[in-house]
Amino acid sequence: MNNAPYTPLNTPAWNRLIELASEIKTSASPITINQLFADDADRVEKYALATGELKLDFSKNLIDDQIWEQLLNLADQSPLASHRDAMFSGDAINTSENRSVLHAALRAASSDDTSKDGAIRAEQVEKQLKAVERISNDIRCGKWVGSTGKAITDIINIGIGGSDLGPKMACTALEEFAHESINVHFISNVDGAQILSTLKKLNAETTLVSIASKTFTTQETMLNAKTAIQWFSDELGLENPKNSSHFIGLTANPEAAIAYGIPENQILEFSDWVGGRYSLWSSIGLSIAISIGFENFKQMLEGAREMDQHFQNAPLEKNMPVILGLLGIWYSNFLNAQSIAIIPYCERLVLLPSYLQQLDMESNGKSTSLDGEPVNYNTGPILWGQTGTNGQHAFFQLLHQGTRMAPIDFIAAIKDNLSNAEHHQVLLGNMLAQASALMEGQAAPVGEQHRYYPGNKPSNTLLMDELSPKNFGALVALYEHKVFVQGSIWNINSFDQWGVELGKKMANNLLDKDSGASKMDPSTKALFSYIEQKS
Ligand code: F6P
Repeated sequence: MNNAPYTPLNTPAWNRLIELASEIKTSASPITINQLFADDADRVEKYALATGELKLDFSKNLIDDQIWEQLLNLADQSPLASHRDAMFSGDAINTSENRSVLHAALRAASSDDTSKDGAIRAEQVEKQLKAVERISNDIRCGKWVGSTGKAITDIINIGIGGSDLGPKMACTALEEFAHESINVHFISNVDGAQILSTLKKLNAETTLVSIASKTFTTQETMLNAKTAIQWFSDELGLENPKNSSHFIGLTANPEAAIAYGIPENQILEFSDWVGGRYSLWSSIGLSIAISIGFENFKQMLEGAREMDQHFQNAPLEKNMPVILGLLGIWYSNFLNAQSIAIIPYCERLVLLPSYLQQLDMESNGKSTSLDGEPVNYNTGPILWGQTGTNGQHAFFQLLHQGTRMAPIDFIAAIKDNLSNAEHHQVLLGNMLAQASALMEGQAAPVGEQHRYYPGNKPSNTLLMDELSPKNFGALVALYEHKVFVQGSIWNINSFDQWGVELGKKMANNLLDKDSGASKMDPSTKALFSYIEQKS
């Protein structure tokens, strides 16, 4: 029996995949996706699947049956299945912080986990959701009023990272369902121009601020909150605005929010086992519930829950997050791709790439294994992207004719109630044409090499029936689990983020008036004094 700690490098599948990739890289006539279609009449059906109202076509990938079989073997030979079960049952799989990873419990039905701990968690979640329901309803119907008795028309969510990106993306994506007369604004950057220019446009009497922070200590959030508090004092003459109905706290650290001065009944808690980048499903999602209504928020949770169940129960070869995860590993680890591009053909999903950047890069941008060893293989890719068709007139040049491999996820909704038939047909037609052109390529006319399109560029196409709250929830959970699949196979901890700590510490050191200068490297010191001279 082999008792060596798991590493993907020691699995038979990994080693076979190295050989298969080497055949592609060294062959005089390597496989092409076009040829794979020509050789296999069943390819379209074989490399596609649907779950709920999501359909994934992954036939335009540089994989043949042998490669696909080995990728599935890799999943099978990795700890993925046991790791997945450990996550759902609440084991402390975030080992460096000794924490459970239970964002899925935020969207579970009470019948999903009947264990003792599961029942306790379900009760906690139910209580937290009830608070989101009550407060969002009160705000939406005008029952919650500001200090001068007027109904709320503007919500400012102050938060950063997971306390900003998820709610901001969801409110933008689900604009179709937004409340007619309540606007939601998101302030994240410590750049004062963001908050000050937003505040200038608002009426303090009808504005409510939610301070969203898991830890309630984040520098940017606390400084922005301070500026907002000052604005309420200046505008309304309030002595202690934090203690008024203009402030709500969303946090897993209620003690800190109470100490800060937010009234206890205006603090919406969530549990420590919710990671920041997985927190839009928790009370951090209050702004979503205010914007689209609690019933729609619940639908979003339900879509995510259905994806959780699919991830837990579908066999590997029919499991959407597993499939997306394995394809990413094929390109990152065996064909040397450095990035993945996310291109939604839906302007309302414009924030999906930046949301997924945190989800993927903060989760899997790691180089230490779960056993505390340095890893000697690629882990998380650089994730980037923006909406089509905009990207077509910008970076698609590189995708068609550049020298780098950049696999793409194209994402679209089949029906769009906010568009019309003509626009939507052109939009979806463009997406399909791009995916096809990237794969098919085109020979150059004689003497015009600059018109050569090599083709063979891989992509996935992900279609939702429509961009409903439920499908949106399923889409986000799909990517959460894809990231999980990759982290499990790479044997890394996808749930901590120690990488961001050093920068935070350095910023604090540098801003220390007494000792800052002594701690600076020569370049930083010179830049600092240049800024001082010029300011
Ligand atoms: O610095 C990284 C990070 O901890 C993220 O993981 C998190 O989403 C963000 O900061 C904000 O943290 P908080 O919600 O505690 O303010």
